[in-house]
Amino acid sequence: MTDPKPSTNDIMAKIRAKAAGAAPAESTPKPPADAQSEAASAPENPAAVDAAASSAPKSTADIMAAARASAKPAAAPTGTAAILAAAKKAAGSAPASSGGAAAKGPSDIMAAIRAKAGATPAAAVAADAGAKSASPAPQKLDPAKAAGLSAADMIKAARSASDGMAEAAPKVVLPTKPLPGKLPAPKAAAVKAGSAVERRSVLAAALSVVASWVVLAWGSMITASTVGLLGVARFMMPNVLVEPPTKFKIGPPNDYAPGTVSTKWQAQFNIWVVNAEVDGVRSIYALSTVCTHLGCTPNWLEGEQKFKCPCHGSGFYKSGVNFEGPAPRPLERFGIRLAEDGMLEVDKSVKFQKELGQWTNPACFVGVT
Ligand code: FES
Repeated sequence: MTDPKPSTNDIMAKIRAKAAGAAPAESTPKPPADAQSEAASAPENPAAVDAAASSAPKSTADIMAAARASAKPAAAPTGTAAILAAAKKAAGSAPASSGGAAAKGPSDIMAAIRAKAGATPAAAVAADAGAKSASPAPQKLDPAKAAGLSAADMIKAARSASDGMAEAAPKVVLPTKPLPGKLPAPKAAAVKAGSAVERRSVLAAALSVVASWVVLAWGSMITASTVGLLGVARFMMPNVLVEPPTKFKIGPPNDYAPGTVSTKWQAQFNIWVVNAEVDGVRSIYALSTVCTHLGCTPNWLEGEQKFKCPCHGSGFYKSGVNFEGPAPRPLERFGIRLAEDGMLEVDKSVKFQKELGQWTNPACFVGVT
């Protein structure tokens, strides 16, 4: 088995043989076809031999440069466009029977290249996915498979591997019950919110109490001031006794039968109307109901034909003269007259006393026939 790459000695020997026109040794590699043709034509064309001899490399650097130039393979396509062009050319030259229609797009070209690689990306991805599903342990991408995959397939495969790693990673189990001495976040937030609401409610209650006390104080002060002002106003006004009129009509004289005592106006006007005969003359007069002892109101006793005071037992005749008890003097009479309309009119503003000799005044009685 011969080494495809010539060594430096071989190259040097080849060049020397070419320059000297001698045949190369059997151990040396087979010279190129142009060198053999030149060597075969060397005796026939001395000028070419001279030219070759003159153009032959002499220094080691020249010899190495020439050898590298001859040994260097054709320049491989470096850019993507060059690779695609070469792939297209290779796919176009493929027989129709082997692949069907010629590849036209980059995807077709990549598919043809992957077919050459012996494994399709889908199969590789499926194999990787199957392996991951079977085993959750993370797997490394196979360099041989990765060489035939596109960038998208490689990313997908890497993601699958990372998913497998995530599945294989240990899960963190959170405690279902709160740690002792600590409340869970939602409950702590609820407790904080509840305490805030409670504080607000307490503050509102305190404010309401203070406000109520303030309102109560102001209300009390306003009420007291109002009552005081009303008292002062009442103090400034004089006391007035509402008394019945002093003059009033008690009806016609016929309403009072002779020899009778009428108590009809006792409650309203504090008078008794008596129709009796005084000093031989029948007359109608009005007696006061006030006892002359201490001011009590005596009662008319029809059966005894007298006024009897319930307080100390003073007794008065029908004429009003006192006859028993502590009463010091007779009852008083009021002025009475017959009005223009025929009615009896009593005037309480005028009093007539017997002890003073006033009962003889015609103004204190009305004579009737
Ligand atoms: Fe009438 Fe004393 S008040 S008797």
